[in-house]
Amino acid sequence: MNEVLVKKFEKLFGAGGEIRAYFAPGRVNLIGEHTDYNGGHVFPCALTLGTYGLARKREDRRLRFYSMNFPENGIIESSLDDLRPEAEAGWTNYPKGVMWAFEKYGHKLTCGVDFLVYGDIPNGSGLSSSASLEVLTGLALKDIHGIEGLTGQDLAVLGQYAENNFNGMNCGIMDQFASVMGRKGSAIFLDTNTLKYEYAPVKLPEARIVITNSKVKHSLVGSAYNDRRNESEQALKDLQKVVDIQTLGDLTEEVFEEHKAAIEDQVCRKRAKHAVYENQRTIKAYNALKVNDLDAFGKYMNASHVSLRDDYEVSCEEIDVLVDLAWNIPGVIGSRMTGGGFGGCTVSIVKKDAVESFIDMVGKGYREQTGHEAEFYVVDVGEGAHRIC
Ligand code: GLA
Repeated sequence: MNEVLVKKFEKLFGAGGEIRAYFAPGRVNLIGEHTDYNGGHVFPCALTLGTYGLARKREDRRLRFYSMNFPENGIIESSLDDLRPEAEAGWTNYPKGVMWAFEKYGHKLTCGVDFLVYGDIPNGSGLSSSASLEVLTGLALKDIHGIEGLTGQDLAVLGQYAENNFNGMNCGIMDQFASVMGRKGSAIFLDTNTLKYEYAPVKLPEARIVITNSKVKHSLVGSAYNDRRNESEQALKDLQKVVDIQTLGDLTEEVFEEHKAAIEDQVCRKRAKHAVYENQRTIKAYNALKVNDLDAFGKYMNASHVSLRDDYEVSCEEIDVLVDLAWNIPGVIGSRMTGGGFGGCTVSIVKKDAVESFIDMVGKGYREQTGHEAEFYVVDVGEGAHRIC
């Protein structure tokens, strides 16, 4: 892989100088969905799928980008003196956004860069290809500019800042955090309010994590996501009139039930219910995994899906078909939508000896019911972003 990328890099940008290579993974979230901007917990893990990048410093302030995933776009050029989002700049708005964020945070970038990337995360699958690209850029910038004192968490925050303020998607911290902080074989139990985290080994001797890609992505995605965020914030404001909390993540189910009438709008009330119950469910699921109670973990995953479908309303027909099919297959421990929603992927925990029939049956049922061809990835939990030698 590395060699192919280096050859391509030299062909495009010329040989010489020091070319450095990096990798940043995508993520799958096991449970804790739409809780990361509500002060709740999330439980993602890094994948072995992700984005590879080669970078070399330039003498001037030019930026030259090339993606092996979009060869038809050729080399896209920009400059450190002209960092603004442009529709025609396509995918380069992500690395440019991170450069812009570095400057905003006072990390001076003194020279331009030649940058080649290649990603093996299916585009638009909701497995965080954009967050992995942001983290990859952050890591490369930090490394080639020798910026001291930037922690992994800082890179995650910079990536999120770029996504929010440069690319206009008000996402939480989960995706970037998982991409930086991931650890082989472990999921990350992260409190998004304090950024305190713990690693939980995902020991599944008898089971596998299977991601099913619906191959649909409904175009509402960005705006509906931001709507959910606004509705949650409105619910929080109403609740704060009657109970002393900073975030929806501060509430137990009982305290929420006691005060929920303070939320005036019915829709906002449903959104808040999801945020509160999903956060508590995530804590319980984490505790279940710690004692190897996989069955309990699976039940929390299923309940998470119901709540995302009915109360948060971020699922869609195709994803519900995939989850319904999965729930009816013997050997499926749990199954739910994962990521932002409105298409993308489901995550299922499936007993090893049932994986083959799972792929068969879900694939067939999905084809029959929707006319779409699903894609399956039986995944391993990978390492966070790092330099490749
Ligand atoms: C997207 C966002 C994350 C998170 C999830 C939903 O992936 O980027 O911050 O909010 O949706 O859990």
